[in-house]
Amino acid sequence: MSRNIQGKTHQFKLVLLGESAVGKSSLVMRFVKDHFDEYRESTIGAAFLAQTIALDDNTVVKFEIWDTAGQERYKSLAPMYYRGANCAVVVYDITQASSLEKAKSWVDELQRQAEPDIIIALCGNKTDLESRRVVETETARSYAEENGLLFMETSAKSAHNVTELFTMIAKRMPLDQQTELTRGGGRRLNIRNGIDLDQSSSSDSCACKLILIH
Ligand code: GTP
Ligand code: MG
Repeated sequence: MSRNIQGKTHQFKLVLLGESAVGKSSLVMRFVKDHFDEYRESTIGAAFLAQTIALDDNTVVKFEIWDTAGQERYKSLAPMYYRGANCAVVVYDITQASSLEKAKSWVDELQRQAEPDIIIALCGNKTDLESRRVVETETARSYAEENGLLFMETSAKSAHNVTELFTMIAKRMPLDQQTELTRGGGRRLNIRNGIDLDQSSSSDSCACKLILIH
C-alpha cells in the first residue's frame, strides 16, 4: 500500500526469532503476501521484508521486518538483527513443547541485550493443528503476562490472527515525532544503532533481501 497523503506514517524495525520450523517465515509471508507454502525452505541467514498497516485514516505503521533463521548454526547472527529493533515476535509451535523453551531463552536474551524499551510479542503458531497441541494456551499466556510480553496464538496456514498479531504490536508502538517518516520518505530518527535500511526499504511495496552466509 502507499503512504497516506494527509496522515502520518511511523516506521519501526521488527525482528522475528524462534526455533527452526515454528513458522516465522510463513507468518511473514502470510502477513506481507497473504500466501502460505506447505513446503517452505528453511531460512538462510535472514530475510528482509516491509509491510504497512493502516491503524486509522490518519496513521500508518510501517514495519521493516527481519525474519531470522532459526537453525542453531545461525544463532550467533541474531544480535545483528535484534540490535536497534523496536519490536520482536518470538515464535513457538503449539505442537512442540521444546519450541516454547527455546522461545523463553530468546525472550531472556532480548530482555538482557536488546533495546530496553523493545516491545516483545510471544506467538504460538500452528493453531490449525489443534489435535496435536501440547502447549496449553493458558500456560503460555501466563508466562507472557509474568514477563511483560504481548501474546497471541496464530496459524500462518489458515491466516488465523496473523494480521491481528501485527496490528496488536502496531498499536503498542510509540507514534511520536521520532518515529515519523517525513514527507520525503526519510526518517527523523528511528532505527537505533542499527543497519541503515533506507536502500532496501525505499519502496512501500514488499522489498526482499537475502543475506547469504558461507
Ligand atoms: P527457519 O527458517 O528454519 O527458522 O523456520 P521458520 O520458523 O521460518 O519456519 P517456516 O515458516 O519455514 O515453516 C516450517 C514448516 O512449517 C513449513 O513446512 C510450513 O509450511 C509449516 N508451517 C508454518 N506455519 C504453519 C501453520 O500455521 N500451520 C501448519 N500446519 N504448518 C505451518
Ligand atoms: Mg524461516
